[in-house]
Amino acid sequence: MIITIVGGQWGDEGKGKIIDHIAEKADVIARYAGGNNAGHTIENKLGKFALHLVPCGVGWEGTKNLIGSGTVIDPDVLINELELINKNNLPGEIFISEKAHMIMPYHIKLDQAEEAYRGSEAVGTTGRGIGPAYSDKISRNGIRIGDLKNIETLQSKISKNLNIKNKILKEIYNTDEISEKYIFEKIKEWNNKLSKYIANTEQILYENIEKNKFILLEGAQGALLDIDHGTYPYVTSSNSISGGSLTGLGLGAKDIDNVMGVFKAFTTRVGEGPFPTEIFGKDAETIREIAGEFGTTTGRPRRIGWFDAVAAKYSVKINGLDGMVITKLDILDKFEKIKICTHYEYKGEVLSYFPSDENILSNIKPIYKEFEGWDESTFDVSSYEALNSKAKEFLKNLEDIVGIPIAYISTGPSREATIPVSYTHLRAHETREDRGWRGVGGK
Ligand code: GDP
Ligand code: IMO
Ligand code: MG
Repeated sequence: MIITIVGGQWGDEGKGKIIDHIAEKADVIARYAGGNNAGHTIENKLGKFALHLVPCGVGWEGTKNLIGSGTVIDPDVLINELELINKNNLPGEIFISEKAHMIMPYHIKLDQAEEAYRGSEAVGTTGRGIGPAYSDKISRNGIRIGDLKNIETLQSKISKNLNIKNKILKEIYNTDEISEKYIFEKIKEWNNKLSKYIANTEQILYENIEKNKFILLEGAQGALLDIDHGTYPYVTSSNSISGGSLTGLGLGAKDIDNVMGVFKAFTTRVGEGPFPTEIFGKDAETIREIAGEFGTTTGRPRRIGWFDAVAAKYSVKINGLDGMVITKLDILDKFEKIKICTHYEYKGEVLSYFPSDENILSNIKPIYKEFEGWDESTFDVSSYEALNSKAKEFLKNLEDIVGIPIAYISTGPSREATIPVSYTHLRAHETREDRGWRGVGGK
């Protein structure tokens, strides 16, 4: 059975936490897109870890954790992460796709130079070289992890690339060049430290599918940061939606049994771009402080807003979501009023769909449905029955408005602070109705 877990909003929804929870039962966990722009936090008995590249199943013995072909890998960051994992005895096995592209030092410099050049129109990237690495992949100038196997050919590819990149860095962006010697030394180190992890990850997947194993596909970023369907140009450079789990791992459209979207009970966004339900002032500050809404990768304060059901319904469509995971319910514990945006208003007209025009999105007014807060702790609650009735009411409304069932609720950062509303979906090869996905509303 294969389940794709995808970010339903603008990233940081708590994908890492929920994957760590579900991975107890999984055999293979495979990351399909993005690079170390991602920061996925897991918290369990072994400690708290912010993983940037290695899948979040690594905390479980007997798991195979694959970094798929659709990812871009900064080898230095991966080496550090592997050292952290080994030092802390995280027991999962790790494999890197030979097809995954490498983020080279010039990609990082270019990302930062391009952002500076954009000035007030900057995307607010993480500055990790993601966009330039994917650009090189698409324009067929990329360098893949598998290229490390043949250092001589690789050196010649790098020389050619560097010729052009250094011209751009120096003559267009007026910044320092990168020395060939430095990169040549690096690739030897990368080869020494990474070669034992490099594998044909597709083959590992196919063998495990054949044996009917339980496979989790780990998304990075969020649907609204998708290069095609997100809030372009304020997006990342890969397909973060569930479709990316097919192309980013070499799977077929019929391989996926179900798709779950992870959503915070409110919304956050890091970086620039439209954010219809964004709030400022006291409520935003309270959420940011209680929830620690600062980027896992860059430490930047995250922008805060109410739950946007118009965007969530769009996310259901572009991902083909079967169910939702609602995280951070506990963060809303202290609010007198909680809001869900049900529609947008633009120039006096009510919109019930997510517009793709950036100018419309930046100028719409959210229409909210208000709910009474519960003023009672839900932190670490691990059964649905133990939730208070107002929190249940809020969750049932989320299901009704978004139109798909809730599969899990998360009430804290730890693995245990999870309410499995319905485990029945973990049975394979059944229709969605047969799986008994009733959600919290019993529908
Ligand atoms: P990801 O990128 O989607 O994996 O999410 P991040 O790890 O970047 O950000 C989510 C943050 O929220 C992490 O610090 C998690 O430990 C934390 N977290 C996840 N779920 C919950 C929850 O239900 N309640 C609280 N309080 N924190 C949570
Ligand atoms: P996880 O997997 C939140 C955002 C950046 C920026 C835009 C483009 O932890 O949810 P990039 O460096 O990718 O070119 O930046 O995308 N971004 C994320 N925001 N969570 C992430 O990952 C993100 N990865 C990229 O802030 O706005
Ligand atoms: Mg994150």
